[in-house]
Amino acid sequence: MKYYKIVTYGCQMNEHESEKLCGILEKFNLTKTDDDAIADVIVFNTCTIRENAERRAYGNIGALKKLKKQNPEKIVAVGGCLPQQSGKADDLKAKFPFIDIIFGTHNLTEFENMLNRRLESGKKFIDISLDEYKMPIDVPVKRSTYPNAYVNVMFGCNNFCTYCIVPYVRGRERSRKPEDIVSEVKSLVESGYKEITLLGQNVDSYGKDLSPKVDFSSLLEQVAKIDGKFRLRFMSNHPKDVNQKLADTIKNNDKICNSIHFPVQSGSTRVLALMNRRYTREDYLKKIKMLRKTVKDIAITTDIMVGFPMETEKDFKDSLTLLKKVKYDGAFTFVYSKRSGTKAYSMDGHVPEDTKKQRIVKLVAIQNNVNKKLAKKYLGKTVEVLVDEFNTDCGYYMGRDERGKAIHFSSNENIVGQFVNVKITKANGISIYGEIV
Ligand code: 5AD
Ligand code: SF4
Repeated sequence: MKYYKIVTYGCQMNEHESEKLCGILEKFNLTKTDDDAIADVIVFNTCTIRENAERRAYGNIGALKKLKKQNPEKIVAVGGCLPQQSGKADDLKAKFPFIDIIFGTHNLTEFENMLNRRLESGKKFIDISLDEYKMPIDVPVKRSTYPNAYVNVMFGCNNFCTYCIVPYVRGRERSRKPEDIVSEVKSLVESGYKEITLLGQNVDSYGKDLSPKVDFSSLLEQVAKIDGKFRLRFMSNHPKDVNQKLADTIKNNDKICNSIHFPVQSGSTRVLALMNRRYTREDYLKKIKMLRKTVKDIAITTDIMVGFPMETEKDFKDSLTLLKKVKYDGAFTFVYSKRSGTKAYSMDGHVPEDTKKQRIVKLVAIQNNVNKKLAKKYLGKTVEVLVDEFNTDCGYYMGRDERGKAIHFSSNENIVGQFVNVKITKANGISIYGEIV
């Protein structure tokens, strides 16, 4: 065996888990490739948050049938959130009998054993562990996002928003010990990483399960005390739990970026109640006010969806007015997708597909308009940018300022991983451009 390929479909959590799977695969002395034909092991690290992520995985796995027939020695593994969903492992097995290994999110650490067992015995393995209290930690990580690094602070979710599959595929909340998180971040900073993103499905619940209890703000303070120049980000927060203490912590620690991902989901109080979000539009707007009052020029981004069951035109308009009012620095916009096993799945009043489509187009148009206006505010400013990558398509380096805004600029030297000051010279559309000063 020489090569492996990994396909990733989901969120940052899923992306980071792929880095762990790569770490495990490289213990087998395999090298990464993008070529199905030469890969000896192909791993699909799936996502099931929306139907299209699931459909893409099914399509990609199905496309391997011919190659696997020609070369039965090739090992095909399917992991992640999709097989962890009730009934899906059996469904995958029935549709694609050529799959060699099926594993879930709770037993990612078992992947190494499963691959060993498969290599030794030639037999297929399905292992969707029910031990939802296990954490996928203490495995080698092959990082692929330098100068940024993801660090898990907790796993699972207890919130049960009625549209969301995550609590069913990722189990209950469990937190890593603060000292383990601090020591991981320390070693990343020492080895040259410049931006650390702390990950959890709902970071505001961090530490509630630990004894003694620790809260997320205290964890942030501890991490921000680590020596060296680096930026600290975190995601995601739940608006019901964000409080003054968190805002003060952002304000008082230079390393913590003035930026927060603050998913609203809907601008309608009636829909928010149906979603079990446990805040109203007014509560949410009050917290936006508090964040902006406490942290000067804080960047606020969001997730928002259209077409939740029973969403009326009036509810939808409430989302539009919210976007106009808040003027987010970025919004991830989604069409509600039915997920079996969730409460919303069996609600009445599912919105017709064409209505959903019309609504998403309007929503995106409004946010695009906001993006353009906010980009203009950057014109003439000089900001500190951490250089992420060279984009071969457009020929520019790309980096982000503390607020998370993507900025493009030229350089004759390779400056990936450096902090540079960039003066913004062009901000006509959504992308902004500048010159190093
Ligand atoms: N349909 C559409 N979007 C969803 N999200 C979560 N579940 C669904 C669903 N069933 C969105 C939410 C969440 C983001 C990660 O994905 O906006 O914040
Ligand atoms: Fe991430 Fe949720 Fe998709 Fe799983 S289902 S990969 S937790 S977005």
